[in-house]
Amino acid sequence: MLQDQITQYTQEINAFSTENAEELEQFRIRFLGTKGIIKDIFDEFKAVSPEEKRTLGKVLNEFKQLAEAKYLSLKANEPVTGDQKTAGMDLTLPGNGIELGARHPLALVRREIVDIFNKLGFIVAEGPEIEDDWHNFSALNFPEEHPARDMQDTFFIRKGGESGDIALRTHTSSVQVRMMEAGKPPFRALMPGRVYRNEAISARAHCFFHQVEGLYVDENVSFADLKQTLFYFVQELYGEGTKVRFRPSYFPFTEPSAEMDISCTICKGAGCQLCKYSGWVEILGCGMVDPNVLENCGIDSKKYSGFAFGMGIERIANLKFEIRDLRLFSENDARFLKQFKTSLI
Ligand code: PHE
Repeated sequence: MLQDQITQYTQEINAFSTENAEELEQFRIRFLGTKGIIKDIFDEFKAVSPEEKRTLGKVLNEFKQLAEAKYLSLKANEPVTGDQKTAGMDLTLPGNGIELGARHPLALVRREIVDIFNKLGFIVAEGPEIEDDWHNFSALNFPEEHPARDMQDTFFIRKGGESGDIALRTHTSSVQVRMMEAGKPPFRALMPGRVYRNEAISARAHCFFHQVEGLYVDENVSFADLKQTLFYFVQELYGEGTKVRFRPSYFPFTEPSAEMDISCTICKGAGCQLCKYSGWVEILGCGMVDPNVLENCGIDSKKYSGFAFGMGIERIANLKFEIRDLRLFSENDARFLKQFKTSLI
């Protein structure tokens, strides 16, 4: 009699399957609950004859194990519900914060520079870091064997054992050439990028750094346009009231050429260590594009004129963040980099 019941329930258990948590719970209560079938059967078992107990005891135990195994295996497959996920957790505890990375200070400053010139209609252009002599030097009016080539401590690249005319670009002015060769005026572009010079690494010099080049070519572009553009840039970048001054200089690719200083951003002109007590710091080189350069790029220098400028991003960043050692920019020390969290994502 009991044996028949067990056979019937065994079939039922074997046939049972569910992915539903409620149905599974009903199954547990029905078979394994404190008032469940197994409990009943065990109660009845107490009343059977001792001979029957021996065989039936084994059957009963197997039956109980079957029900438990079924329950556990279905439980393991059951999709976790929201309630169970949070059960036993203290939801008022603060979570594990997700630490956001920080942008590299040079990327932040580059973006700031680009944003300011964007407002004036300058687009962004790029060129290769491995350059040929023409784009880095010759087209820019550096005569062959001219000592100005040595000014820039070039890293040459050997081609098949011979050092040819391929080099790591020493300045972003090479991108000016590529741009003018490839298009027609007017040009109004900003050209950020990495440049390389063979210099001993120290707090003040590195074998690579970053520049932003600017180029504006159109009819009737004058030195006054250059001054006004750079003046606007400085007010935007360092705040209104920052003074600028231009000193005559020399670059083979601009004529006339100038270097631009701004009133020291740290001491506001009063004199400090950063500006070597002069009140001024140099931030860029600039000038009117030399007509030879325009002609080298296929542009009619009688019709068009232009200005160009180039600045080191590290220098601009140093003045913004008061960083005294250039090496910090490329050492990837998270303690340094983490300090430049900004809302600029
Ligand atoms: N290419 C110059 C340098 O690397 C900077 C410069 C750019 C000067 C454009 C004038 C015009 O020093």
